[in-house]
Amino acid sequence: MGIHVAELTVNLGPRSYKIFLGNGNLADLGGLCKSLDFGKSAAVITNPKISGLYAAAAESSLSSCGFNVTRVEIPDGESYKNSETLNHIYGALIDAGLDRKSFIVALGGGVVGDISGFAASTYLRGIPFVQVPTSLLAQVDSSVGGKTGINHHLGKNLIGTFYQPRLVLIDADTLLTLPQREYLSGLAEIVKYGIVCDADFFDFLFDNKEKLVNKDTETVLAAISNSCRLKASVVENDEMEAGIRAVLNYGHTFAHAVESLTSYGEFLHGEAVSIGMVRAALLSEEKGYSTVKDTARIINLLREFNLPTGLPDFPTQAYCEVMMRDKKVRDGGINFVFNKGIGRCIIERVNDWSFLLGHL
Ligand code: NAD
Ligand code: GLY
Repeated sequence: MGIHVAELTVNLGPRSYKIFLGNGNLADLGGLCKSLDFGKSAAVITNPKISGLYAAAAESSLSSCGFNVTRVEIPDGESYKNSETLNHIYGALIDAGLDRKSFIVALGGGVVGDISGFAASTYLRGIPFVQVPTSLLAQVDSSVGGKTGINHHLGKNLIGTFYQPRLVLIDADTLLTLPQREYLSGLAEIVKYGIVCDADFFDFLFDNKEKLVNKDTETVLAAISNSCRLKASVVENDEMEAGIRAVLNYGHTFAHAVESLTSYGEFLHGEAVSIGMVRAALLSEEKGYSTVKDTARIINLLREFNLPTGLPDFPTQAYCEVMMRDKKVRDGGINFVFNKGIGRCIIERVNDWSFLLGHL
């Protein structure tokens, strides 16, 4: 048995589920699945890299609890989060004879989690699925909250569903094999939670920055657990993003523009979010919602995590064009998330693009 150091619940009525967090607890996967009302067959969806590292442990835990397991491998990378890979998954599920009680285990980072969740939500009109996130970003963000999806060649995450997992199992030991750049990129989303909803958590991150960079076990667990708790509470209040869930998009308007202008090839998602959060912090300061000191603390912390903070040099017009194509634009305006000091935020509609793009 691994050690569960935290057990959280995402309270969504009949769609509620637990998040188990610990070290070495991948071995508990089978037992935890057995406690749910799943059928006998499971498909573990993963990529070749994660497969070599963790699939055997996940599958042996499932088999030892009586489940028949099929492994489905998909290629590694964001560019494969598409309809072709999805069709490959459907084919594998059909070949393996998975029925409506069977379940999917998404074992990997956010790419595996998003596409597996989408497959689970649509195969046979929906079968249960379990998230076993292995990247820091997936452990603190994408595995919780039920956003699933794939990319379309005309845009990222344009096809998707809200479909909650039945269980999230986070084994923080998997982070030991995660490349450091990917790990630091995940820290950006953790900083986001501190900025938008928890000043004490931001202070904790600041006070423990070296330990976080060095993957100190206890500190990392505390950061993951707090992030999941904060995300769960936002999702519980607004599962389908009718309003308040949009605070989780803090920094993402500029992040998406940066990713798009650099053709998704230069920055990891968390790195782009880091750049976007700095723009959001500067704009919040300009609005009078925060102080120079708040902005400096945000920038300092991101720099401590070796994350980029400066906007790449593209013409203002180029930023304007990509931002106006953002899927959050409505009637020519956008709901923008501003931080109020550190630990609180406000969503405000911005119709004046020159305000957003004024000082680029
Ligand atoms: P990813 O899934 O591509 O993983 C990053 C890389 O790390 C991959 O090469 C992966 O194979 C590797 N990796 C993962 N875990 C590892 C481990 N333990 N050891 C060694 N290598 C490991 O990227 P990501 O950053 O995890 O997720 C990004 C995706 O998540 C994007 O598609 C984004 O749209 C999505 N996302 C979804 C949500 C949501 O709410 N659903 C939120 C944020 C991001
Ligand atoms: N990652 C943003 C959300 O889940 O809403």
